Amino acid sequence: MTKIAVFASGRGSNFQVVYQRTKDGYLPAEIALLICDNPQAGASAFAAAHDIPCAVIRPKDFPTPEMFGEELLEALSAQQIEFIVLAGYLKKIPGNVVQRYANRIVNIHPALLPAFGGKGMYGMRVHEAVFRSGAKISGLTVHLVNDEYDTGPIVLQKAVAIDDCNSPEEIARKVLEYEHQALPEAIKLLLETSYAVEGNRVILGKR
Ligand code: GRF
Repeated sequence: MTKIAVFASGRGSNFQVVYQRTKDGYLPAEIALLICDNPQAGASAFAAAHDIPCAVIRPKDFPTPEMFGEELLEALSAQQIEFIVLAGYLKKIPGNVVQRYANRIVNIHPALLPAFGGKGMYGMRVHEAVFRSGAKISGLTVHLVNDEYDTGPIVLQKAVAIDDCNSPEEIARKVLEYEHQALPEAIKLLLETSYAVEGNRVILGKR
């Protein structure tokens, strides 16, 4: 069983799905910690109701990203966390955490990177930009986390046809359904398969 931590800032539907997939045996993992930057997050209410330890750690309470990172690392090592899942987490992961968990942090982004990503491109902003662009296909990307927003090595992508969507909200709803399948799938892949990172590519089956 791999001990994983989920980081979430909001509603937490991806967190809930990952939790369910650990419970039904699909994922060989246990969620041993939820980290939130927002005590109001729906994710933290779910954690409380399911006896998942939850730490609220807010970057604004620390003078530097490094000190924020030290606090995160302490919480992670107290639970012997081996793998991290960012599920709707809006804050930047400090460099010391990225280094300690190199290639063991995944993020889900609700569009096909490298388009529609980067700083400030999160949540509905992504779907609004996709809608405005007139694209007929959107999708999702699960990627490893590096020091920059949304640029880490891609683990898995799914394309979602959105030519039947008439608003950013419709795109968001449709993409979210696919996210709920793809995030557990990507985590399973990384926990059960050896992989290496070459340049910005994830090479499955290689150590
Ligand atoms: C998801 O669309 C995810 O891709 C993005 O933020 C949203 C979070 O939704 N990073 P939820 O909190 O998991 O319901």
